[in-house]
Amino acid sequence: MVADRMSSVPESGTVKISNLVSRMKAEGVDVLAFSMGEPDFGTPENIVQVAKDTLDERFTHYTPSKGIPELRRAVADKSDRDNGIRCGSSNVLITPSKQAIFLSCLAFLQEGDEVIMQDPTWGTYEACVRLTGARPRFVPVSAASEYRMTPEMVAEQINENTKMIVMNTPSNPCGSVLSSDEIRGIADLAKDHDLMVMADEVYEKIIYEGNHLSIASLDGMMERTLTINGFSKTYAMTGWRLGWLLASEENINVVNKLQTQSITCCVSFTQTAGVEALNGPQESVATMVKEFGERRKLVLDLMDEIPSINVLPPKGAFYVFPEYDFDMSSERLATYLLEKARVAITPGAAFGTSGEGHFRLSYAASRESLEEGLGRMKRALAQL
Ligand SMILES: Cc1ncc(COP(=O)(O)O)c(C=O)c1O
Repeated sequence: MVADRMSSVPESGTVKISNLVSRMKAEGVDVLAFSMGEPDFGTPENIVQVAKDTLDERFTHYTPSKGIPELRRAVADKSDRDNGIRCGSSNVLITPSKQAIFLSCLAFLQEGDEVIMQDPTWGTYEACVRLTGARPRFVPVSAASEYRMTPEMVAEQINENTKMIVMNTPSNPCGSVLSSDEIRGIADLAKDHDLMVMADEVYEKIIYEGNHLSIASLDGMMERTLTINGFSKTYAMTGWRLGWLLASEENINVVNKLQTQSITCCVSFTQTAGVEALNGPQESVATMVKEFGERRKLVLDLMDEIPSINVLPPKGAFYVFPEYDFDMSSERLATYLLEKARVAITPGAAFGTSGEGHFRLSYAASRESLEEGLGRMKRALAQL
């Protein structure tokens, strides 16, 4: 009964682990979970209040499919102000970030197309590309390039079938951040070979070293770039399912056709809260990023004491992606740590072939739990 195309879609490795952890916790097992990609902070109060007020006012019906005008304006203003992207409301589609990726792949890719992306990378890109009949073309990255997909590596993979390059900086799972020169280099390749770029910038504000550059701000890039961004990571709003796609008006109209035929529009009372997130006070973002920075330091110090693990300090996001030298698959290592130490991490192989021999640990968790969890991990690994 199942459509053939489903065989090309792997189950999300991160969601699989988190479902298992939820089940164990429900059974009363004391698991420390460092597997999920979401801030452990609550959504800031001012944002929550606006959603409550909106519900009280019964703004609870369909909205325009592209989003409420105030939010589209706020996203355009933010993109201009923070990212130097010259744009207006007509360049914005309000849709959950993951949905923006899914719809964009459906709208622009087809059988025969190839999409360049780094390996290891976040699994959703591969799944969405394959669903369309297109093929991912992986660029293996490692500690040697600090897990960055450089323009030289991209250039080697371009052929007559190449349609799109996926860029994710800061990256999940590696925490790597492309330099401005590297981003310019990728933009030049896209223009020279007439390619689209999908720029996933959901971690743009969570950055410790270097600066974020939006590729769509570069000359001649707006019309070929699909910029993905959202509220989940910056404002601790993962459960609100709110984000956006920024692109040329023509491309927004194409993707909007799919929005109207799928989710219709985003939830009404999260959209007004989104306006408050972008236009209201930003102190909570700074506080959260500062705390992530402290935890990053703590995790790097604690991992330094674990033999057989090498970790490159991540420049952004809230993950470390250590390499280990035990003779064990990352899937088995994750199971071992869960059973022996009651610590949940994500196997590196969940992010691609080149992720094997690594694991991802999210430090979006309290300092106490990180200290306890890494202690447990150290003791369990000593027994291998
Ligand atoms: C790189 C990347 N892009 C997009 C998303 C999806 O974010 P959202 O919750 O806004 O759909 C995630 C979530 O983990 C992510 O890691």
